[in-house]
Amino acid sequence: MAHLCVNVDHVATVRQARRTVEPDPVWAAVQSELAGAIGITVHLREDRRHIQDRDVRLLRETVRGKLNLEMAAVDEMLQFALEVKPDQASLVPERREEVTTEGGLDAAGQEARIKPYISRLHEAGIQVSLFIDPHPDQIDSAKRLGADFVEINTAAYSEAKTPAESAQEIETILTGVRRAADQGLGVHAGHGLTYVNVTRVAAVPEIVELNIGHSIVSRSIFCGMEVAVRDMVALIENAPGKFGKIPE
Ligand code: PXP
Repeated sequence: MAHLCVNVDHVATVRQARRTVEPDPVWAAVQSELAGAIGITVHLREDRRHIQDRDVRLLRETVRGKLNLEMAAVDEMLQFALEVKPDQASLVPERREEVTTEGGLDAAGQEARIKPYISRLHEAGIQVSLFIDPHPDQIDSAKRLGADFVEINTAAYSEAKTPAESAQEIETILTGVRRAADQGLGVHAGHGLTYVNVTRVAAVPEIVELNIGHSIVSRSIFCGMEVAVRDMVALIENAPGKFGKIPE
């Protein structure tokens, strides 16, 4: 069964809209863990548009489960990660002009560039996940690079406009997930998952962790973080498991 890591970036987005002290993503993290999340994910972007260095440092002190730091493979972020030591670093592509992460990391196209980052993180005892599209070349590359996990990008599935498109994208995810699991990679997934579309992804038995942010933070505005997280955990836990059928 998959477990939930809550991405609290967009709590910080609201705070940064006024450059003030509230709402605090650290509070959101505490409530998420109390409500059943096994970990907290934050993306420290180079432009610091939401999460700030202070947030990650405080989360390192307060998160009881897993702290997952999403980061670009650049020297500034590597130094920060080596200092703060999250449990896991997730390497993601990053462009300043994007609204959110667009597409997976091109691991296959830049193995020589990425490899030293993975080695340095591993030397510091930090597990490494690569956020990639469910493409065979990217999965095989993650294995060659020695990543511990891949996070399969579910954006194409989340953005599917028709049931046929959605079914096609789930097939692509399934094929990718199996290829990764067969090679011994731990498999995570995320991006664009909501209360409406999460079940089919959560039902894939090889996926052990889901990273979900925007949808949970959106619901929390109306019913609070604990209820929002509990609702999502329940959907994930009730998705058909290993012996169940993946819902249509
Ligand atoms: N996984 C990665 C690598 C991401 O960059 C994001 C967005 O920050 C997520 C998961 C969560 O996506 P969403 O906010 O759409 O749930």
